[in-house]
Amino acid sequence: MFLEIPEKMKERMSFLEEIDRRDRVDGTDRLKRLRQIPPETGKFLALVASNCPIGKYIEIGTSAGYSSLWITLALKPRGIRLKTFEILPAKAALARETFKLSGVGNDIEFIEGDFFLGSNALSDIAFCFIDCEKDLYQRCFDVVAGKMKSGGMIIADNAIDHYDSIKPMMERAERDDRFDCLMIPIGKGEFVCRRK
Ligand SMILES: C[S@@+](CC[C@H](N)C(=O)[O-])C[C@H]1O[C@@H](n2cnc3c(N)ncnc32)[C@H](O)[C@@H]1O
Repeated sequence: MFLEIPEKMKERMSFLEEIDRRDRVDGTDRLKRLRQIPPETGKFLALVASNCPIGKYIEIGTSAGYSSLWITLALKPRGIRLKTFEILPAKAALARETFKLSGVGNDIEFIEGDFFLGSNALSDIAFCFIDCEKDLYQRCFDVVAGKMKSGGMIIADNAIDHYDSIKPMMERAERDDRFDCLMIPIGKGEFVCRRK
């Protein structure tokens, strides 16, 4: 998978990595920053996604589509589409550009809008990557937990660098006997919950 990343996708990944790197040091306003995952987290997401059951694959918080590209690497060979949600119009425009330039337009169902408005229609979730505002994580977990397929995975980003903010969600998941949970120290910390 990682040795077969199409050239145009690699180019877009590098372009977004450069913007993200600059955003973090040049004082760019928080709402404008891409705040994307590092490449090692992308690889981790792809490895997990390539082993989840058949079902719906979703992402909450697209930004410019960088993490979506990594997840798509695992889904394309399986004929599965990723459904990804982004609430901010400026980020949504960048994500559309990313998907078009990377040639994955048909592999992604992109929803511009609030995840919580579209979440009722979801069921049979096999994979869910939570990467939106940290104070929304617990609500995201509550929405998706009951919709997960057996063997499905919820992965929440920022379990190390935003530990205090997402601790309530992690504690709730760890007490939930439907899940086995573990924090993995990759990137900014990935909190992984497997539905039994
Ligand atoms: C940390 S960034 C996502 C980074 C992206 N996953 C990546 O690694 O490339 C968080 C994104 O979640 C979006 N967001 C926040 N609340 C949301 C909501 N309720 N529904 C959809 N997107 C939301 C923000 O606008 C922001 O672009």
